[in-house]
Amino acid sequence: MSDKFAQLILEGKTYTFPVYEGSYGEKAIDISTLLKQTGHITLDRGYVNTGSCTSDITYLDGKAGVLDYRGYAIEELAENCSFVEVAYLLLHGDLPNEQELMEYRDLMSQYALIHEDMIHFFDHFPPNAEPMSILSTMVNSLHNFYPELTTHPDPTETFDSITARLLSKVRTIAAFSYKKSKGHPLIYPRYDLNYCENFLNMMFDTPTRPYKILPEVVSTLNKLLILHADHEQNCSTSTVRLVGSAGVSLYASIASGINALWGPLHGGAAQEVVEMLEGIYADDKDFEKYIRKAKDHSDPYRLSGFGHRVYKTFDPRAQIIKKSCDETLAALNVSDPLLDVAKELAERVRNDDYFVSRNLYPNVDFYSGIIYRAMGIPTNMFTVMFALGRLPGWLAHWREMIGNKESRRIGRPRQLYIGPTRRRFIPLGERK
Ligand code: CMC
Repeated sequence: MSDKFAQLILEGKTYTFPVYEGSYGEKAIDISTLLKQTGHITLDRGYVNTGSCTSDITYLDGKAGVLDYRGYAIEELAENCSFVEVAYLLLHGDLPNEQELMEYRDLMSQYALIHEDMIHFFDHFPPNAEPMSILSTMVNSLHNFYPELTTHPDPTETFDSITARLLSKVRTIAAFSYKKSKGHPLIYPRYDLNYCENFLNMMFDTPTRPYKILPEVVSTLNKLLILHADHEQNCSTSTVRLVGSAGVSLYASIASGINALWGPLHGGAAQEVVEMLEGIYADDKDFEKYIRKAKDHSDPYRLSGFGHRVYKTFDPRAQIIKKSCDETLAALNVSDPLLDVAKELAERVRNDDYFVSRNLYPNVDFYSGIIYRAMGIPTNMFTVMFALGRLPGWLAHWREMIGNKESRRIGRPRQLYIGPTRRRFIPLGERK
């Protein structure tokens, strides 16, 4: 119960609504009874002001540039944890002890293979198939191969099995789809390798040229996955919750999240950024031309990798990635001219009134593509990398939604109808 209230005066009548506070004093007016009390709905395009649930997974302060998972600062998690530890934290609410981590890793190793029949699916995609489309198709199909675990309405007992299975299999699917796209033989997961090592090995090892797993690459990949692991009610996570609220299987909900993430305004931005930087580089680094285009509202062009719905200051994830970018390229002995293009673009934007007045700073996707390139990950797989990272977040939110009686109601926004009012039906032959 709340002891604070907000009053709304509408057509001379006063209505009262409870006001709730979050852990850091953030305030929300609970309008659940608005329609019942007043006959009005709210109109909030793009859900800029609408909280769809309460959540105890991730805290984000967009004005201060703060991001915490379950109360832990993203900077500390990225510096000190493995991705699997962070996945466990998001899913369970607490960091694992050594025994718990070992057991969870063990589960992931057990589930790392995909059913051999699923491998035939890859053969029937055209050679240029989009990796995100393959990923969502395959994840949706997991339902047919492993249906038993998602039919339980409250899968608390089997939740570790489900999440370990998905985290592990999605990684295998991502690497297999790359191998298939190259026409190379598949490299199977290995029990002795950790999450990131296994992924890199499945991606890049070949029977003729063994892949050398470099600790610097493993450490950077680990960091990138942690930074992407959750970001509260973003478009794909909200999709997972919304689709899941209809009672479909977890696999169907996650496949929907993958599809939402694919968009260039969301997870697809890293690919767009690299393509944009390549374009600027190829155009004699004519920065001003692209900045001008992005500022021109009659041109749909935008500078990818800048701006964020919630951050109105530096995205803390971008700060960490920027630092990693220099270190990783140096460790790999890679010199990428796109990094210089990126740095100069960021510098020009930082001093441009249009971007400054709109609080448009580099976001998480601005530098991540440059690192993935240096690792050898092809551009069209960058969003798949984002999906691998975001998976624990989607799973944690799905579980929270399923387990919470309030937010478990089917998601069903309202609308303001502005179409024609009822009119006389005209039979086919009489229509002009
Ligand atoms: N380039 C040029 N102008 C921009 C940009 C940009 N990248 N982003 C926003 N603006 C302008 C926009 O035109 C608007 O101007 P005005 O107020 O004059 O109409 C103002 O800034 C506010 O933008 P908005 O579109 O209302 O903001 P939003 O919160 O609806 O959109 C966004 C957020 C991330 C979709 C948007 O900033 C964008 O399109 N950025 C480029 C794509 C991108 O990098 N996406 C990755 C986001 S981070 C990964 C993730 O978590 O999804």
